[in-house]
Amino acid sequence: MVENKAFYLTTPIYYVNDAPHIGHAYTTVAGDVLTRWHRQRGEAVWFLTGTDEHGQKVLRSAEANGIDPQVWVDKLVAEEWLPVLQVIDVQNDDFIRTTESRHIERVQRFLTRLKDAGWIYEGTYQGPYCVGCEEFKLPADLIAGTDQYEGQECCPIHSKPVEIVDESNWFFKLSAFTEPLIDHYTKHPEAIRPQSAYNEVMSFIKQGLQDLSISRSTFSWGIDVPWDPQQVVYVWFDALLNYATAVGLDDEAGSEGAKKFGATWPADVHLVGKDILRFHAVIWPAMLMAGGLDLPRCVYAHGWLLVGGEKMSKSKLTGIAPSQIVDHFGYDVFGYYFLKAIQFGQDGSFSWEDLSARYTADLANGLGNLASRATAMVNKYCEGVLPKPAALSDKERALEALLQKTTTDADRHMLNLDFAEGINAIKEFIDAVNLYVTEREPWKVAKSPELTDDLHTILYTIIDCLRAIAILYYPVMPKSMANLWSQLGMPGNLADQTIEMASHWQSAPPGISVTKGEALFPRLEDE
Ligand code: MSP
Repeated sequence: MVENKAFYLTTPIYYVNDAPHIGHAYTTVAGDVLTRWHRQRGEAVWFLTGTDEHGQKVLRSAEANGIDPQVWVDKLVAEEWLPVLQVIDVQNDDFIRTTESRHIERVQRFLTRLKDAGWIYEGTYQGPYCVGCEEFKLPADLIAGTDQYEGQECCPIHSKPVEIVDESNWFFKLSAFTEPLIDHYTKHPEAIRPQSAYNEVMSFIKQGLQDLSISRSTFSWGIDVPWDPQQVVYVWFDALLNYATAVGLDDEAGSEGAKKFGATWPADVHLVGKDILRFHAVIWPAMLMAGGLDLPRCVYAHGWLLVGGEKMSKSKLTGIAPSQIVDHFGYDVFGYYFLKAIQFGQDGSFSWEDLSARYTADLANGLGNLASRATAMVNKYCEGVLPKPAALSDKERALEALLQKTTTDADRHMLNLDFAEGINAIKEFIDAVNLYVTEREPWKVAKSPELTDDLHTILYTIIDCLRAIAILYYPVMPKSMANLWSQLGMPGNLADQTIEMASHWQSAPPGISVTKGEALFPRLEDE
């Protein structure tokens, strides 16, 4: 294994049958915050996202719009999926599209390798298929349709009738991996998280796996099976491979692709919604085992954003565009809100009221107010120049100790993908600094010239705490924290400050110019 392997994180690749909604952005933002956190620790990082462009779901949406599928996916990627990364300010290192030749060629090569190794054979598939999930379903998983679908068997996720597939296809010997997967997950319980996801996958595998049809013959929108161009590769088999094709899967030894692969593989975290857990924790590792490749270190299944108790979705007309939130609340609030309000791994209901309430309490009144009071006081009492601190009282010492603890706790929680606790640890530090300001009453101290030393200590302490907060919150709210950093007049680039440096008490250099800039989190107009 390569010494300095990057922390490699992936999001699912998104179907381009429609425009993104905040449920999709949720996964991407979680990945963005986690990779920014790792970067801020000074680690090498590789963050991949992209689009899943083949299969019947995408094909049908193109047909419904009367457009050739390639033209359709090109248009949606250019007009919707790439721009949404700007809207939510994502710092991905690569964006893979499954219609790119770098992907298609590597998929075909890998598939040929599996066939040559005896893992692929010809057979007949008969059974229900949900185009919404792009999944072969087990009859026991289906639910009875209601209203317009009365009397039909439906997919429990999409509430729409399944279709019956009856074709001659190529099969992958998934059943051969039942025992190896059980062994692997018994030895590596950390490989599927949270625990509920681990339990679900283990009990599914223990029922025994069935071989999987990995090609389709009734439509041609997909990657040709290399030895049988009458068939296209099953969209999930094609899609899962993106995580490896994007970093040079099976490229010739010594090539750029092989170097990249060595420096990234295996993936450290595949972030997925719980609806696509089995693909990632059963089919994908079996494919990798068949190919003799290392397995991902962790598949983390998060919950759904719900509207009216159901998974938010465009097809159910409950999708909200990420821009609706960003336009109203600014760039950074998206990650802050969703990752703090919803325990990662569980479902959460979205409501505008809750978002507004938390924005106002935590950001406008909490951090925003602290920053504007502090920068205003340095300007009023010290002509905008950060004073030198004098002797510290117990109150400053208490903040110093809390900052050490906050940094360690936040780091531990974030690395553990417990975003809510990580953010909360930082928020509690902000609350403590706000309390410190209230208790130390610098505006009163400023009235007594003999207390100037005290005043300087207080103002310095608040600004130095804001310095630490800017570092710790930078992965969560990059734009507003960069703004805070420049208002504080801190030297150097915020991106170059490691998480650990946040805990270096009194590292703001006295003498820097502190400006009272625009509000970091303006109050909402409708309040
Ligand atoms: N194309 C497949 C993934 C292939 S990965 C090799 C796919 N695409 S998707 O566009 O339907 O969904 C992508 C991700 O968005 C999934 O992780 C899914 O859980 C997530 N979400 C879609 N709607 C969601 C919510 N309402 N809430 C949270 N996440 C949701 O599946």
